[in-house]
Amino acid sequence: MVELHYTSGTREALESAETAVVFAGPDAGEAAGKAGGALPAALPAAFADAIGRYAKTGLFKGEAGDTRTLPTLGTMKADYVVLAGVGDGSADSLRQAGAAAAKACKQLKAENICALIGPDLLKGDASEETVRLKAQSLAEGFLLGAAARVPQRREQPKEMKLRVAFAPAEQAAGQAEAAFKAGMDRGRLFGEAVAYARRLTNLPGNMLTPEMLALEAEALAQEYQLDIEVIDEWTAAELEMGGLLGVGQGSANPPRMIVLHHEGAPDSKEKLGLIGKGITFDTGGISLKRADGMEEMISDMAGAAAVLGAMRIIGEAKPAVNVVAVIPAAENMPSDRALKPGDVLKTMSGRTVEVLNTDAEGRLVVADGLTTAIRRGATRLIDVATLTGAVMVALGDVATGAVTNDDAFLAGLMEASRRTGERIWQLPSYPEYRKQLESDAADLKNTGGRHAGAITGGLFIGEFADGLPWIHLDIGGTAWMFEDRGWDVKGATGVMTRTLAEYALRLGADRTTA
Ligand code: BES
Ligand code: MN
Ligand code: ZN
Repeated sequence: MVELHYTSGTREALESAETAVVFAGPDAGEAAGKAGGALPAALPAAFADAIGRYAKTGLFKGEAGDTRTLPTLGTMKADYVVLAGVGDGSADSLRQAGAAAAKACKQLKAENICALIGPDLLKGDASEETVRLKAQSLAEGFLLGAAARVPQRREQPKEMKLRVAFAPAEQAAGQAEAAFKAGMDRGRLFGEAVAYARRLTNLPGNMLTPEMLALEAEALAQEYQLDIEVIDEWTAAELEMGGLLGVGQGSANPPRMIVLHHEGAPDSKEKLGLIGKGITFDTGGISLKRADGMEEMISDMAGAAAVLGAMRIIGEAKPAVNVVAVIPAAENMPSDRALKPGDVLKTMSGRTVEVLNTDAEGRLVVADGLTTAIRRGATRLIDVATLTGAVMVALGDVATGAVTNDDAFLAGLMEASRRTGERIWQLPSYPEYRKQLESDAADLKNTGGRHAGAITGGLFIGEFADGLPWIHLDIGGTAWMFEDRGWDVKGATGVMTRTLAEYALRLGADRTTA
């Protein structure tokens, strides 16, 4: 857990901290021989000079994500100074700097941290918007860098409490101060939501069944006063959710369709539908996956986690938009009653699907998720799913793949993703690909063969959008990391939480200013 505070009393903050973080750019070396300069003035002059000389050697270049942990050798109250590079000072660089600083603080097992922001960082374009964005990026990055998987051990590791007092340079007074605080608060909101999404995603399959995921959603709804419906397997049968029930039928843990509502614009007919794939564990079913690496499939509900994370932000910020969030949750298991290759399912929309591979289960549950969102009044749809391994072949773990039927809609979402630094890359949706899904036995088949798997997977889901503007985000490559990178940590990334929320919040802001 990280507690963030703002403080204007830089010197006092530095006096009470056991670890100081000093954010500095490539110009840190200019402090050598001068008191302060490119470094926060609150630092003892001798120490600032030493950092300056150190940077001059080239051992600290100030690039985004660089950190150096320096012992202070009695020159100040704090035992260590974590020098964190901010690179060009862009939002992405600062988010990375915050994350690197958090990781360095964790290594020190620091609990009482004072983060000093040098004068140069808020100089130049010091418009309120820029100051707000910089503060958000630093704070958000710090929370993201700290939000790693907490192992389930006999002795529960003492959760480290990071108390971070962010102290911007002395001249950031008045309006800049208010902007800095507002930015920090936004960073906290976004960072905590991602930490929440990561925590859910990192839970093992036995500790997060569809029912437990529904309980988590209920707790969230309660906390943020969102309306919630949890549709159980019996009601799902009445509603003829053949996709969800088909995938869930092999497991002793029954499926759930979870629906959350945020009514921020009662006078508007527009409603954003967010659908998150919630497979709490994917064995592949009868088309069983190979054993090696199967444990990663605890993350097959990362789309659901991103949608819940975004709803947490939306529930707190309450933008003037209507949102319906839908999470089809199921466990994909092989058993005597499991779905078999060749089975034909009737989905909630009435469309029938020939199941060629039970491991292509995500699209079956997400299809019913789209129909549920449409029945609840959604006028545009974004689905988020760890849908394919094929997207990893195409884009690696670097970018989320997108498929859409509405380029202008996607352009709006991509703009939000540029602000959050979560990369999205559009895949083509030429009509030829759709042909790969034609079936002799039903309206569609659930796999389009080996070629263009990420595209055909997306297009399968698109069939269920009923012509409404729709975007599919395949996070099969980006939801899980095998090692730390930038503001991501090993394990669940919570990817798309921030982008979905940023998009919804901007929609709300556009409405109120229009
Ligand atoms: N959840 C998987 C996709 C996945 C695999 C995501 C590895 C992240 C890492 C999905 O349900 C799946 O199994 N997809 C199949 C589809 C195929 C059978 C058409 C795949 O990608 O192999
Ligand atoms: Mn699968
Ligand atoms: Zn899956």
